[in-house]
Amino acid sequence: MGRSKSSNQWLQEHFNDEFVKQAKMQGFRSRAVFKLQEIQKKDNLIRPGMNVVDLGAAPGAWLQYVKRLLKGQGRIVGLDILPIEAIEGVHCVQGDFREEAVMAELSRVLENIPVHVVLSDMAPNLTGNKAIDQPQSIYLAELALEMAATVLSADGCFVVKVFQGEGFDAYKKSVSAVFSKVLIRKPKASRPRSKEVYILGKGFKNDN
Ligand SMILES: C[S@@+](CC[C@H](N)C(=O)[O-])C[C@H]1O[C@@H](n2cnc3c(N)ncnc32)[C@H](O)[C@@H]1O
Repeated sequence: MGRSKSSNQWLQEHFNDEFVKQAKMQGFRSRAVFKLQEIQKKDNLIRPGMNVVDLGAAPGAWLQYVKRLLKGQGRIVGLDILPIEAIEGVHCVQGDFREEAVMAELSRVLENIPVHVVLSDMAPNLTGNKAIDQPQSIYLAELALEMAATVLSADGCFVVKVFQGEGFDAYKKSVSAVFSKVLIRKPKASRPRSKEVYILGKGFKNDN
């Protein structure tokens, strides 16, 4: 069966993409690494000795990058509905984050260790219908925030991908309620036509 015009266009764009080429050359599993790298260079969130949780981690480029940043000091736990090819020293949980049992498994793996950073690059499977995609993006971001607020230690950080659109401002407000500082980042590797941005919460206000 021949490829559709739009999938041919996607492939063309993908192979001409500088970020795709650079990711391959540097041994990263996806171009997504450059989004986190740009945020990290600007905001310096992740340092050796920290424990980091990465939600929506497949195929694992952010995990690979975090591992390089931690230099063997600190723990990394990744979660995705898809399988993640093993990375030495990284613990991966497979499951749908919307399921309570999966969240419970993640909490079990974390064994009450202090978590310093929660990352979420989770995105719903896009249908192209804004009325479906937008609330799904906000819902995943809400679950990620809930998880972050449960596991983060005082002063911890949160990075979450959210689509701009309905519900965005209210969501940003809910992040502001639990973090001292909230910033919006749109890294260069994030395609300009994409509605995605990253909300960064710094200084978790842990009231416990
Ligand atoms: C853009 S990709 C992440 C790329 C990743 N940051 C990397 O560097 O390789 C988004 C991921 O979110 C995952 N995802 C979406 N919904 C999910 C859910 N409900 N539970 C777990 N993972 C989910 C997808 O399977 C997909 O792998």
